[in-house]
Amino acid sequence: MTTPFAPRQWSSRFAFLMAAIGSAVGLGNIWRFPYIAGENGGGAFIAIYGLTMLAIALPILVAEILLGRMGRQSPINTMRKLVAENRAARIWMVIGWGGTIGAFVVLSYYAVIGGWALKYVELALTGAFAGDDHAATLEHFQSFIADPYALSFWQTLFLLMTVGIVAVGVTSGIERAVVSLMPLLFLLVVSMAIYATTTQGFGEAMNFMFAFKIEDVKPETILAAIGQGFFSVSVALGAMMTYGAYLDRDVSIGRSAVIIAVADTGIAILAGIAIFPLVFTYGLEPSAGPGLTFITLPIAFGTIGGGVLIGSVFFLLLSIAAITSAISLLEPVVAWVEEVVPLSRRVLAAIAGVLVWVLGIGTVLSFNLWADYFPLAPLGFLADKTFFDALDYVALNILMPTVGLMMSLFAGWVLSGEAVEEALGARGRRWFPLWRFSLRFVAPLGVISIFVANVLM
Ligand code: PHE
Repeated sequence: MTTPFAPRQWSSRFAFLMAAIGSAVGLGNIWRFPYIAGENGGGAFIAIYGLTMLAIALPILVAEILLGRMGRQSPINTMRKLVAENRAARIWMVIGWGGTIGAFVVLSYYAVIGGWALKYVELALTGAFAGDDHAATLEHFQSFIADPYALSFWQTLFLLMTVGIVAVGVTSGIERAVVSLMPLLFLLVVSMAIYATTTQGFGEAMNFMFAFKIEDVKPETILAAIGQGFFSVSVALGAMMTYGAYLDRDVSIGRSAVIIAVADTGIAILAGIAIFPLVFTYGLEPSAGPGLTFITLPIAFGTIGGGVLIGSVFFLLLSIAAITSAISLLEPVVAWVEEVVPLSRRVLAAIAGVLVWVLGIGTVLSFNLWADYFPLAPLGFLADKTFFDALDYVALNILMPTVGLMMSLFAGWVLSGEAVEEALGARGRRWFPLWRFSLRFVAPLGVISIFVANVLM
């Protein structure tokens, strides 16, 4: 059978790894992780995060890449194929549909925040932070997000780049870009972390990040940690399933997943080490919310020698990290429409981009004109959440855990042990039974009990 579109296949294991790490490392690490950790008490959140990453997110990451490689199509059609082959119930299609719709929704606001990163490249380049204290960086940030036209301009630019790359095809453009840029990003985050050790808030920050206070452990904290963990390694939205579909049969998925998770967690922790010392040095609130990174780091860029250069490079790399994640959110959607609609990838990517843009306007407005509009309040649910907060909350704390749970049950219970062992190339490997045990019991029971506890408490 011939496909109407160009073959979709990574050219090497290295290319896959860089694309997958490019997907995992993004705004989730440098923008979302620090402020969510800050809002959830710091140390306890980070400890639970590490634990759930190892016991739940990593096993599901292996499962998701594997499902993709077994189906070799978009998440929706991969699941259709696997459901049919295994005579499974149709409810499992939630994995394909939920993931794909989730990716679309998340991309709508991801592009707005990605636009912030782009805007900050401009600010850094023009030396806007020179001599700024925290009042000044706060003012920069607030006046920027107060302007819906400015936000939308940068959102549009960000989406144009994302759509442009996906339209051309991921394998050639992206592969080449991520290979050199990801290591550079790593280097810069390390340098920022080292700089932070010299500030006076460093001790307090380490205490905040690594002191475990049992009273901070609430079901809500654990749910936030699971949601953040899934988001950060890119599971449950079909991104890794799509990338797995383009992966060669002889690459070890287990080893790749460990590399992806370690790189991802390492960068998130380093981002925390770069940001929290500044938060404490300047008496800011660690729970300052989505603006945290954009308000704290510019203080350093405005103070240190070479700050214009370092700041510009930093926000440039943050933008690139965000784009390499955004394309992995668009790809599951485009891969699917490409399979069902006989139009070119370029046209389909453009149409998808326009729809994402339209939904994204809700997020743009939630920072200004709609700042006091709480869409779910009439339902008596999430009554203090703006359009953006509500999308983010529903996607990360409800949709992603549900899809992740179903992936783990599907790979653990519906697919036969032999088939999975074979497909993973894990015959006789000692980690295989452990992994399967986590999929069948640890991950599902973990996610379900946290859901229940969160509803009850
Ligand atoms: N992992 C990305 C980040 O941390 C976001 C993402 C989630 C991308 C899910 C794809 C799928 O920014």
